[in-house]
Amino acid sequence: MNRSEPTNPPPQVKVAIKQLNKRKIKDIDSGIEFLLNEIKVHWALEHCVSVVRLLSIFEDEDYIYMVLEYQPNGTLLKTLKSNQKFNEPDVRVIIEQMLLALDYLERKKVVHRDIKPDNILINSIEDNSEYEIRIADFGFAVFTPNDELLTHKCGTPGYVAPEMFLNEAGYSYKADVFSLGAVFFNLLTGRYLFSGDNMEQTLRRNVRCDIKGIQKYLEHTSNNCKDLIQ
Ligand SMILES: Nc1ncnc2c1ncn2[C@@H]1O[C@H](COP(=O)(O)OP(=O)(O)OP(=O)(O)O)[C@@H](O)[C@H]1O
Ligand SMILES: [Mg+2]
Repeated sequence: MNRSEPTNPPPQVKVAIKQLNKRKIKDIDSGIEFLLNEIKVHWALEHCVSVVRLLSIFEDEDYIYMVLEYQPNGTLLKTLKSNQKFNEPDVRVIIEQMLLALDYLERKKVVHRDIKPDNILINSIEDNSEYEIRIADFGFAVFTPNDELLTHKCGTPGYVAPEMFLNEAGYSYKADVFSLGAVFFNLLTGRYLFSGDNMEQTLRRNVRCDIKGIQKYLEHTSNNCKDLIQ
């Protein structure tokens, strides 16, 4: 009998593998639950085009491995750091995709809690085409099935919503929208919205949400953009 190649070989997909270290969580009470949460949340978002696709997971004794669709063009942070500019039309398509994605997350009852340029991957930037982005890193994400308010403080200084620290009752989905506002400013100006000499100072300025001095960096932006950011 002749052997033949399958007529439709499976497409070759380039992947990125994220390792979650089981040993690191051995001392934490909620242990493995904590690691599985990232996977559970990520899995629940598989139909969102702007969330990086989680293709499969496997494990060995020490690690859980998340197989993710590889995003070839780095993160928004990498582009910002290389001094490549985002012009206003670029920023508009990026922020629009992010807002639609955050709306999807809210409908799925998910708060991401670590929206920042390092967790937004760039899928494509062909010549003359628009940016396509993918949200990554659901390590701090949680489900709030009954829209319950959250009180655990986490995230990244410079991007956290002030209500996380100021509202005793807690915070919810809008915390991600605040973080996206800080990303919006990063993209428009190439600067941090809140910065300091160290993490503590950055966090203090972030929680105070002091944006008095930002006008001078927005001189060349349109009025619509200025309105939106304030
Ligand atoms: N699917 C992917 N394709 C390409 N690069 C990726 C992918 N997923 C993650 N990365 C890269 O790996 C980095 C870390 O991934 P991720 O944010 O999910 O992990 P992390 O545990 O939060 O690590 P870190 O503490 O460095 O943020 C990202 O900032 C990005 O540069
Ligand atoms: Mg990350």
